[in-house]
Amino acid sequence: MYKILIRPIFFLFDPEKIHHFTFSLVKVLSKIPLISLLFRGIYMVKDKRLERKLFGLTFQNPVGLAAGFDKNAVLYNELADFGFGFVEIGTVTPVGQEGNPKKRLFRLKDDRGIINRMGFNNEGLKAAVEQLKKNKGKVIIGGNIGKNTSTKPENYTEDYLACFKGLHPYVDYFVLNVSCPNVSSHAKLEDVGYLKELISEVKVLNEKETVQKPILLKIAPDLNNGQLDEIIELISETKIDGVIASNTSMNRDGLKESEDSLKAIGNGGLSGQPIKDRSTKVIQYLSDNSKKSFPIIGVGGIHSAEDALAKIDAGADLVQIYTGFIYEGPSLVKKINKAILSRN
Ligand SMILES: Cc1cc2nc3c(=O)[nH]c(=O)nc-3n(C[C@H](O)[C@H](O)[C@H](O)COP(=O)(O)O)c2cc1C
Repeated sequence: MYKILIRPIFFLFDPEKIHHFTFSLVKVLSKIPLISLLFRGIYMVKDKRLERKLFGLTFQNPVGLAAGFDKNAVLYNELADFGFGFVEIGTVTPVGQEGNPKKRLFRLKDDRGIINRMGFNNEGLKAAVEQLKKNKGKVIIGGNIGKNTSTKPENYTEDYLACFKGLHPYVDYFVLNVSCPNVSSHAKLEDVGYLKELISEVKVLNEKETVQKPILLKIAPDLNNGQLDEIIELISETKIDGVIASNTSMNRDGLKESEDSLKAIGNGGLSGQPIKDRSTKVIQYLSDNSKKSFPIIGVGGIHSAEDALAKIDAGADLVQIYTGFIYEGPSLVKKINKAILSRN
């Protein structure tokens, strides 16, 4: 139904406008009595064998919604009804910001991909906290945090710390997003020396809390083996809880989209099918070269159950989807969970 009826209509419109329209639609639909139950009945796969215990949390199933979809934590209660085992909100920055000028989100239909340069458009920490106070406790919530675009490099850490402190009572795990290709001064966030400092400071803050929350690092799919070795060392030294691999890619190789069209689109991070193998390779490398010493959340180009199983086979403990959710619809979550079960 989604691919035959809903997607062709949605794809006639501007991607960002349709994103907001869908949010409003799901919100309205969810107010109808029993709709939540109906969605859960259709999409939820309940089975103890899908449960995953990782960094002290019990995930009802290993399929999550990746960051960037529910940036302001306004729809996670409703999105949980589509069968996700976890929903990652954000990226949240301390202060609300508009992001990059529109148009900044583009579909690459023939490639089943997306290019975006949203630039951390979000309503800021305070707004996210207000929304998270409405948590109905249906699903595990990840808090993906970043820095404001206008923040000076010497103050990056303060931004992460402010978001960490503010969201701490409301989320189950944290993600330090250091790999968004659409924010300025990206170079500093690629510097392992700085990352070590950032992680240490966030960990110090975590230790001061009565309950400690797991902290993960989200990395780019474009890192070379040397950089991945550095990440493995960083995880081992800082004892951070895990890695999310991966964010969107800057690499445009092998796309069906014409050169002219790509030129017209301009800068941005690529997601969806074109980055599938790149992110799987990163997962495989991290897993093999660390002797699987830390949990990995695999994300990037999962559009089918087979794609998700490939990530798991490469070493992912959990998976997340974003672009596949747009192209394949909510039934993708169920398909992945069913495929995982059929392997048991
Ligand atoms: C429109 C869009 C916005 C995104 N925003 C964020 C974000 O704010 N923070 C983040 O960590 N990742 C963000 N991502 C990256 C996704 O979470 C995911 O890592 C990436 O898209 C690869 O997965 P996919 O191929 O399933 O989309 C965004 C992706 C898209 C397509």
